[in-house]
Amino acid sequence: MKIIVTGGAGFIGSNFIFYMLNKYPDYKIICLDMLTYAGNLETLKDIMDNENFSFYRGDIADKEFVDNLFESEKPDMVVNFAAESHVDRSIEDPGIFLKTNILGTQVLMDACRKYGIKRYHQVSTDEVYGDLPLDRPDLLFTEETPIHTSSPYSSSKAGADLLVLAYHRTYGLPVSISRCSNNYGPYHFPEKLIPLMIANALADKPLPVYGEGLNVRDWLYVEVHCRAIDLIIHNGKVGEVYNVGGHNEKANIEIVKMILDALEKPYSLITYVADRKGHDLRYAIDPTKISNELGWLPETKFEDGIKRTIDWYLSNKNWWENIINGEYQNYYKRMYEERV
Ligand code: NAD
Ligand code: DAU
Repeated sequence: MKIIVTGGAGFIGSNFIFYMLNKYPDYKIICLDMLTYAGNLETLKDIMDNENFSFYRGDIADKEFVDNLFESEKPDMVVNFAAESHVDRSIEDPGIFLKTNILGTQVLMDACRKYGIKRYHQVSTDEVYGDLPLDRPDLLFTEETPIHTSSPYSSSKAGADLLVLAYHRTYGLPVSISRCSNNYGPYHFPEKLIPLMIANALADKPLPVYGEGLNVRDWLYVEVHCRAIDLIIHNGKVGEVYNVGGHNEKANIEIVKMILDALEKPYSLITYVADRKGHDLRYAIDPTKISNELGWLPETKFEDGIKRTIDWYLSNKNWWENIINGEYQNYYKRMYEERV
């Protein structure tokens, strides 16, 4: 089995590659990644010499490059993680989100049609469903919840999802889609809530909490998401969408306080800043379908996962300090200096 994993130098894609190389020693994994600000070859350094792994730098929206790669590698499957993934950046500059997330998906699927494929899997997000009210804990996103997006990021992901389903219906492409809630774990880029708060707390810098910190996210340990994708690409039904989430809803402020407690830092570091535009209130996934059909369960408890994550950031300071000491500083100034 030969699988092209796009976006494999990013957070979830790299965790997926480690998971797959470990679980299937006879599979070949090919990583296609453009190495944007979010992609990091340092993450993949330990597997660069693995004979079952190869890396190609390229743009999923570059048709010629993608066609050549398919022609030479003849993959059996594609798992598409490559995307612009940060909501705040999409609010600042939507264009690249449409190019990578929608047109990139189209280019990959056209190559799948041309060269033949057993499965094209699209890694999507619960954000395509919009948000839920804070005062209705009984409501959850199911696969039937209408698409109703809030940000340029989630709209671009929703556009891609619709295109994936259209390629199945129109061309019979064997596709599947997973829509997962917020992931956390090793190699999470420091622009996102959990790693940003860990890094700032360790540096005794203010922890910028948007609005009142009451927005709720449904957190899932990254490895558990990888297992869900593994099950879907092997046993999931073609043409289907699977929601992935672990019934682990937390308000942002709870997360921030947990991190401060774990690092023995004072709550006085918490700084409430201007809210995100169009900020989704609450995400919550109903994972009944993937549990019933594929036997998937969110094994890792949040208390264990967050401890492992914080320990990882403490033991791998080089990885994230290299990031936050580079171009990231300009981003941080743009995003937070006016805000705090
Ligand atoms: P990330 O930003 O950490 O990584 C994205 C990777 O894609 C990077 O390595 C980047 O270099 C690469 N990339 C970007 N544009 C590319 C292009 N044009 N061609 C090739 N490579 C390109 O993202 P992530 O958090 O790992 O998310 C991965 C996927 O999972 C995304 O599709 C995202 O929408 C989805 N998702 C993320 C979460 C989450 O909580 N992080 C939850 C659900 C779904
Ligand atoms: O739900 C899945 C989505 O989760 C993925 O599709 C996205 O790719 C991923 O980035 C994530 O989106 P969020 O916007 O939920 O994640 P983020 O880490 O940016 O923010 C989490 C919450 O924390 C959100 O309510 C905004 C808030 N926040 C975030 C940052 C970066 C703050 O309060 N302060 C911050 O500095």
